[in-house]
Amino acid sequence: MTQPIPYFDLPAQLRPLRKELDAAIARTLDQCSFCLGPDVAQFERDFARYCGAQHAVGFNSGTSALHVAMLLLNIGPGDEVITTPQTFVATSWAISYVGARPVYVDIDDATFTLDPKLVERAITPRTRAIMPVHLYGQPCDLDPLLEICRKHGLPLVEDAAQAHGAKYRGKTVGTFGALSGFSFYPGKNLGACGEGGALVTNDAAQAARARSLREHGSSQRYYHDEIGFNYRMEGIQGAVLGIKLKHLDNWTRERRRVAHRYHELLADTPLQLPREADYAESVYHVYAVRHPRRDELKKHLEANQIGCALHYPLPLHLQKCYAFLGYKPGDFPVAEKAARECLSLPIYPELTDEQLQRVASVIRDFFHP
Ligand SMILES: Cc1ncc(COP(=O)(O)O)c(C=O)c1O
Repeated sequence: MTQPIPYFDLPAQLRPLRKELDAAIARTLDQCSFCLGPDVAQFERDFARYCGAQHAVGFNSGTSALHVAMLLLNIGPGDEVITTPQTFVATSWAISYVGARPVYVDIDDATFTLDPKLVERAITPRTRAIMPVHLYGQPCDLDPLLEICRKHGLPLVEDAAQAHGAKYRGKTVGTFGALSGFSFYPGKNLGACGEGGALVTNDAAQAARARSLREHGSSQRYYHDEIGFNYRMEGIQGAVLGIKLKHLDNWTRERRRVAHRYHELLADTPLQLPREADYAESVYHVYAVRHPRRDELKKHLEANQIGCALHYPLPLHLQKCYAFLGYKPGDFPVAEKAARECLSLPIYPELTDEQLQRVASVIRDFFHP
């Protein structure tokens, strides 16, 4: 009998690391360094170096890192932040948590990332920042966005939650903007054994304030300079991430191997395949193909025990929680079409060529039964 191919195979990733992870977790237990602590501090230094940044500040999730990014820019009620409607909802949470308004701009049809050509006309006197997303692991087109930011005196905040190690014109994402947020949710390319996130910046003062905000607004115990949060990274997650970070480049290479093999194997199908922009080196967090018969194809893959997923089936401007913003269907046609047509295929470093060939042959059967 043929084995199922899961959408994501975390057990296969953890198996070869188990000894190292067990030892690291045992060490944090022995030290009782549960909230922040030496392993988190070490991981922060290692991750900053990995990103080519001066500072990385560990958080308990990517969502809280992005929330704090908005606070660091003193964004609040009455302010607007320009962002993409085709992303995980947490990008917009960060804006909403500070009482500001997400202002959506449509995406580029080929890359699924914020379309720089449409950004400038969305700027108003209330605009305080632009927050693009390096969606699916592919950097957005940063140069034109940075040019718009320079022209209008706006900071750029990168949502890099899906893009650890992705490169824009050869340079790792995370330091192009004033601030950036990463997620270490277990399914991410670099995932904790639980929740985790990081804020990355080259600005020492912002890093210091981020450290204070994540720890109840205090830099000295029991003295609180401003209203803060309990957003600390757990010690165990710092230890786990320190071990996994050493494997990240290898995992990225393998993800790119899988993506390139899909490109070859699916080239002769009617699917629209992901396109790596000429400025981008994607880390392929997601491999999303597109077709108008997406829902049927999804059923066909699942009937053949091949996992797949939708990233994301409903753009944010049409979500119930954002009805109050007053957007309507048709406002962002490219994002809406992507939401209707995209289907994420299994992609992870451990996928074998045999498995990839099976995915491709099941897809070919769908089009030519
Ligand atoms: C694009 C994007 N932004 C933000 C987040 C939030 O990260 P977390 O789940 O760690 O809070 C995620 C991941 O879940 C994401 O994919």
